[in-house]
Amino acid sequence: MNELQRKILQLKAERGVFILAHNYVIGEVQDIADYVGDSLELSRRAAEVKAEVTLFCGVRFMGETAKILSPSSIVLLPAPDADCPMARMADPAAVTAARQAHPDAIFVAYVNSTADVKAEIDVCCTSGNAARVVAALPGDREIVFLPDGNLGRNIAGGLGRSLTFWPGCCPIHDRVTVAMIEEARRRVPGAPVLVHPECRPEVTAAADAALSTGGMLKYVAESPERRFVIGTESGLLHRLIRENPGKEFFTLKPELICADMKKITLENVLAALENFTGAVELPEELCRKAAAPIHRMLEL
Ligand code: 13P
Ligand code: SF4
Repeated sequence: MNELQRKILQLKAERGVFILAHNYVIGEVQDIADYVGDSLELSRRAAEVKAEVTLFCGVRFMGETAKILSPSSIVLLPAPDADCPMARMADPAAVTAARQAHPDAIFVAYVNSTADVKAEIDVCCTSGNAARVVAALPGDREIVFLPDGNLGRNIAGGLGRSLTFWPGCCPIHDRVTVAMIEEARRRVPGAPVLVHPECRPEVTAAADAALSTGGMLKYVAESPERRFVIGTESGLLHRLIRENPGKEFFTLKPELICADMKKITLENVLAALENFTGAVELPEELCRKAAAPIHRMLEL
């Protein structure tokens, strides 16, 4: 533990702040958090938080989700400009236009979407529950899935159900290719290759499993294998290594880095704690409308 981390822990305790962190933020930030998880685990946790102030070490849509689920609490983002580029690939005007073009469809939005888009859709999902959410919807209705076209295609393939896709993707996971998997299989023979469901369908088909970050942690913990190739953002390696002594991890490509997740540093966490800066502000009415699809997801 370094000096900055000690200072953060002391201030956090003095001020009664609860710190949530996503699996992709840098390891030294994960280490000062009260809870580290994937998007689904963090949404569940955010809904339960009792503290008056939550500091969310993640990108904007995650902080917004925490605020929507707990509108009376103060949610601080240490790096308010850390945003998910995919979440910006769907805006409320485009969703409204799509609703008019598909009046009978159920609109499912990946949690990686803005609060004002959530306010326009029917149900949310995360990579950890997307297939379950879609499977629970009536089979005779059209489903428009946004904004991640790759996740949508992966679910559709898995369920054998046709969906209407949105032209969005995660710029990091969309870069993963089948050639990268083939190269990794030569480099680390026999090791399971795990990728994220935000990767293209041909990539998820070539891997051993396509899992949320929480799903990858579970897979590795339960697997008798000793070596694994990890095809997701580099931040996940921190927990994989720490929680699995004796197991070895190889990145599919070291360049799988989400620049926005890396904007969260010990320095800006400390500054947000000291000054209570970076508060997520959302109108009450928007929170109310955006909460409904998230609660529907959590109920499912
Ligand atoms: P997880 O829910 O799997 O942690 O994914 C979040 C994310 O942003 C993936 O790029
Ligand atoms: Fe968004 Fe991709 Fe970064 Fe996740 S890894 S926050 S989906 S850009």
